[in-house]
Amino acid sequence: MSGKYATETILANAEGIARAAQVLRDGGLVAVPTETVYGLAARADSDEAVARIYEAKGRPSFNPLIVHVRDGAQAREYAELPHDAGIIVDLYWPAPLTLVVPRKPDARLAAAVTAGLDTVALRSPNHPVMQALLAECAFPLAAPSANRSGFVSPTSAAHVAATLDGRIDLILDDGRPCAEGLESTILAIRADGQWEELRPGPVDLDRLHRHYWDSALPIGEGTGGIEAPGQLASHYAPGKPMRLNVREVAPDDFAIGFGSIEGDCTLSARGDLNEAAARLYACLHEAARSEKPRIAVAPVPKEGIGIAINDRLRRAATPPD
Ligand code: TXA
Ligand code: MG
Repeated sequence: MSGKYATETILANAEGIARAAQVLRDGGLVAVPTETVYGLAARADSDEAVARIYEAKGRPSFNPLIVHVRDGAQAREYAELPHDAGIIVDLYWPAPLTLVVPRKPDARLAAAVTAGLDTVALRSPNHPVMQALLAECAFPLAAPSANRSGFVSPTSAAHVAATLDGRIDLILDDGRPCAEGLESTILAIRADGQWEELRPGPVDLDRLHRHYWDSALPIGEGTGGIEAPGQLASHYAPGKPMRLNVREVAPDDFAIGFGSIEGDCTLSARGDLNEAAARLYACLHEAARSEKPRIAVAPVPKEGIGIAINDRLRRAATPPD
């Protein structure tokens, strides 16, 4: 243990969830499993609690946080939902899909949560532990991924402890890795109804739109615009040089394989992109821990969830400024 907190890891059973809810009520920090990655939660209505998130992560305070809510009804306490957003929260949530929508001017949220923007990012996670926690709390939970800023996102309790031990109060251990393994898709729906993909992720927006509106997505390619200030080029960094689309590995490479290309850690031997998404961060954590000085990643097809995998790989391979 290092740092000023005696971080405890406890099982995410009913007793553990009750403990976590009490820590959150008291303004503390709890790492919580979701279907995407572990989140570092604090009550979103408290300036002090939210300030602790930024401190623990070492995160720049201009980077706003996702507010996790139980459902559409709780979302409407904080946002003016444009028409399409209302349909998504009522029919599609809970899901690995974050909506950036106009914030209600009187929304009771710590100012740092939205970092001065007039929008708010809202998500209802599809995970029993996070939902049980939200049900016990009278407030929504601000939660970025539970890692030091710029490091690889956590898909297990051990990954959380690797960078946040001693910096937070509690880790709720789900006992299994996060099922999706990649952060939520972020979709902005503007007051005028326009859609914009801010971050690719597990939810394919084109398919979602066809399902509910029976028509193609009303936007072109995801812009990946920097309006989401967290969308910095360098991110998820394992802390060593990393090459992508590598078919011939050098002896000092930690190889991350896919399909027929076997690695020291293989994303999916059978070439399954969903399995690859779920294992991506575990492989990056293993690569970071390995003695080998460099990382080489096999090609991963850029289709479906493969688009989000390649987005995260590109950011992980970009050296920090
Ligand atoms: O799956 C996930 O989304 C996980 C789990 C814990 O829910 N959370 C997560 O949070 O990935 P984080 O903080 O690592 O990424 C949130 C992203 C950042 O890039 C941030 O800039 C963006 O959301 N964001 C938050 N509020 C925004 C807003 N009002 N407008 C635009 N982007 C926003
Ligand atoms: Mg993150």
